[in-house]
Amino acid sequence: MDKRIRIKDLLDSTNFGQQVKVMGWVKTFRNNQFIAINDGSTIKNIQAVLDFNSFDESLLKRLNTGAAVSIEGEIVESLGKGQRIEIKVDKIEILGDSDAEKFPLQPKKHSLEFLREIAHLRFRTNTFNAVFKVRHALAYAIHKFFNDKGFLYLHTPIITASDAEGAGEMFRVSTLDPDNIPRDQDGSVNYKEDFFGKATNLTVSGQLEGELAALAFGDIYTFGPTFRAENSNTTRHLAEFWMIEPEMAFYDLNDNMDLAEELLNYVISYALENCSDELDFLNNRLLEEEKQKPQSDRSELDLISKLKFCLDNNFERITYTEAIHILRNSKPNQKKQFNYIIDSWGADLQSEHERFLVEKHFKKPVILTDYPAAIKSFYMRLNEPDAEGRTTVRAMDILFPGIGEIIGGSQREERLEKLEKRMEEMHIPKEEMSWYLDTRRFGSAPHAGFGLGFERLVLFVTGMSNIRDVIPFPRTPKNAEF
Ligand code: 4AD
Ligand code: MG
Repeated sequence: MDKRIRIKDLLDSTNFGQQVKVMGWVKTFRNNQFIAINDGSTIKNIQAVLDFNSFDESLLKRLNTGAAVSIEGEIVESLGKGQRIEIKVDKIEILGDSDAEKFPLQPKKHSLEFLREIAHLRFRTNTFNAVFKVRHALAYAIHKFFNDKGFLYLHTPIITASDAEGAGEMFRVSTLDPDNIPRDQDGSVNYKEDFFGKATNLTVSGQLEGELAALAFGDIYTFGPTFRAENSNTTRHLAEFWMIEPEMAFYDLNDNMDLAEELLNYVISYALENCSDELDFLNNRLLEEEKQKPQSDRSELDLISKLKFCLDNNFERITYTEAIHILRNSKPNQKKQFNYIIDSWGADLQSEHERFLVEKHFKKPVILTDYPAAIKSFYMRLNEPDAEGRTTVRAMDILFPGIGEIIGGSQREERLEKLEKRMEEMHIPKEEMSWYLDTRRFGSAPHAGFGLGFERLVLFVTGMSNIRDVIPFPRTPKNAEF
């Protein structure tokens, strides 16, 4: 009996009388008798019951919240409420002490803001146990979804010389000495002397490389970290986030939307089926939080109903032009309650508009398509101008309740001439991107893809309200702790 059993497996056991060894961290120690132990394998604790007469008082004093322990004993039926089994303790070993005066996590509710400051310890709380279990399950489900469909998992570079989105929100990668930067005669930085011999940055998206592979393998996806130096201090933005980017040859925008909807439904169902303990916990946590709010501010659906609702309803698909029409005639627009009033076609939609469409108007996920070319990236396929001469691109954004944009994607411009023209108009350096244009020169084909923000998905499924609480160590402006 030298091998420990995980608490998750132990709680499923019915082998009463069996001797077991459990290792984990003390959550609470009550009445000098009941130790609640958690080993992270499940959100649930095992209760270990000891007869304090059989143990040294000095040992019992060390059973503080946070201490690591190894416990051996017999599986017995529990008489207490809330658990089926417990351990009758024979032997206790303290693996690592935890000073009760100093350990920041006490057996009480801590605010998420406080826990963010001690992100190195927050894994030990129930909330973060649940959140990161769900995050893991979603990552696994994404790989399973694509693998089952025959997609190839492509690793795109983290360091790159191109700005895939053309938005200029990049983190520079350089080994130049900041105190002694080599410069050309005109004063500009001489990147020829830099590590890669040119200016490089952390990737903002693996899409362009993904397209190269899609035009050989057919269906690929990426799943990796992406970096954006946008100075957005919101509950939806990170400077370092994970993105899933499928790219498919021979897909048009409708195929793209179908795949995105199928993916989201698949991973949400996967979480519902495989994370029921965690989702129940998060659901109850939210219900408690809701009780603090006035009736009018409470959500209509609880977390689990919201996830199921999403599965039971098709996403609403409308064009940007239709959305503008709805927004213009909406109450908050006419009563000037929006911060940005929608008065003309061509305006970029703000999150207040997206939320109105999803949460108030349609009351379900919405896919917006065919945005004005002027507000979207260079690689999106141009539509023929409409009756009023306005140009749109074959873009799609998927908007989710409480989240806003969860997916952004498009059908790609596969026609060389049109792509080159648009790159010129948008000042994208064509010469440096001849590798990208080669796909359009040699066997170009219709293709499409999208990017799913992984943390926004985790945010939606866990019902958490701040993106900093669904990634282990968030990177945001002025914050790179841990
Ligand atoms: O809409 P975005 O910028 O699209 C692209 O990067 C395309 N290259 C994707 C593609 O077509 N292959 O980003 C895609 C998604 C957004 O919808 C959002 O969910 C997430 O990435 N995202 C962020 N998530 C967290 N923090 C940020 N700063 C994010 N920026 C985008
Ligand atoms: Mg976008």
